[in-house]
Amino acid sequence: MPANQLAVVTGASTGIGLELAKCCAEDGFNLVIAANEPAIQQAAAELRNSGASVEAVEADLATIEGVDKLCAAVGDRPIDALLANAGVGLGNAFLDQDFGRIRRVIDTNITGTLYLIHRAGNEMLRRNAGRILITGSIAGFMPGSFQAVYNGTKAFLDSFSFALREELRDSGITVTCLMPGATETEFFRRADMMDTKVGTEEKDDAHEVAKAGFDAMLRGESDVVTGMKNKLQTTLANVTPNEVLARQHRKMAEPGTAKQ
Ligand SMILES: NC(=O)c1ccc[n+]([C@@H]2O[C@H](COP(=O)([O-])OP(=O)(O)OC[C@H]3O[C@@H](n4cnc5c(N)ncnc54)[C@H](OP(=O)(O)O)[C@@H]3O)[C@@H](O)[C@H]2O)c1
Repeated sequence: MPANQLAVVTGASTGIGLELAKCCAEDGFNLVIAANEPAIQQAAAELRNSGASVEAVEADLATIEGVDKLCAAVGDRPIDALLANAGVGLGNAFLDQDFGRIRRVIDTNITGTLYLIHRAGNEMLRRNAGRILITGSIAGFMPGSFQAVYNGTKAFLDSFSFALREELRDSGITVTCLMPGATETEFFRRADMMDTKVGTEEKDDAHEVAKAGFDAMLRGESDVVTGMKNKLQTTLANVTPNEVLARQHRKMAEPGTAKQ
């Protein structure tokens, strides 16, 4: 890889995003990493130990101002890789969810992500070069009863990623969708889902998931679903009626489904 390439990774303070940032650092990218909370500074310190040049930005990427702040920190440096990963979940029945939190899921996962891709994507288009990795989810294949808004946002991102890729087919920009299954991170605790089956069962390793996404991005592939179980789940989801999928989702995401 040419020296001094820049990767921007969002949601890099923990979980899949931190592991994506580690992959970038190991591969020699300079990094701008972003998250909302001060923990992003610790992540930056950890990444610098590997010798990478890392800048941390604290910005609320659910807001236009937060995305503008991240773009201002990047300045006029070309972005060689954008890893749009920041995201948040939300468990429980839709009508029991607080509407402020519902809106935050949409603002973070969809609005902020798209605004950042729009800004960075236009910058890439001027140079006709760049790589975009979007963290979607296999949740996008299933109507997510008791996680309804979250799964909807991921269905949006999965779909959007393929559409954008096609629009950019004849350009020097690649778009890759990383679609993890349930992965061991802070995600389910933050989504208030620790009383559910999916929140408490064994999950995929965040580093392995991130590495598969990073490698697929470097190869310019369209998408990656990690692990046999998740591949099978998405294949079956494509031929299963949505009503049945929503019923199955209840069994793993409804409060009280956690094994005692
Ligand atoms: N874990 C899974 O099972 C799973 C499965 C499929 C897809 N995913 C997706 O993977 C991505 C990463 O999630 P994760 O599992 O690694 O969860 P995580 O450990 O909770 O990490 C989420 C990251 O996103 C950041 N973030 C959330 N809201 C933000 C905001 N408004 N502004 C800036 N940063 C924000 C968090 O930073 P702060 O703490 O600073 O807010 C954190 O760095 C998400 O898009 C998620 O939907 C996860």
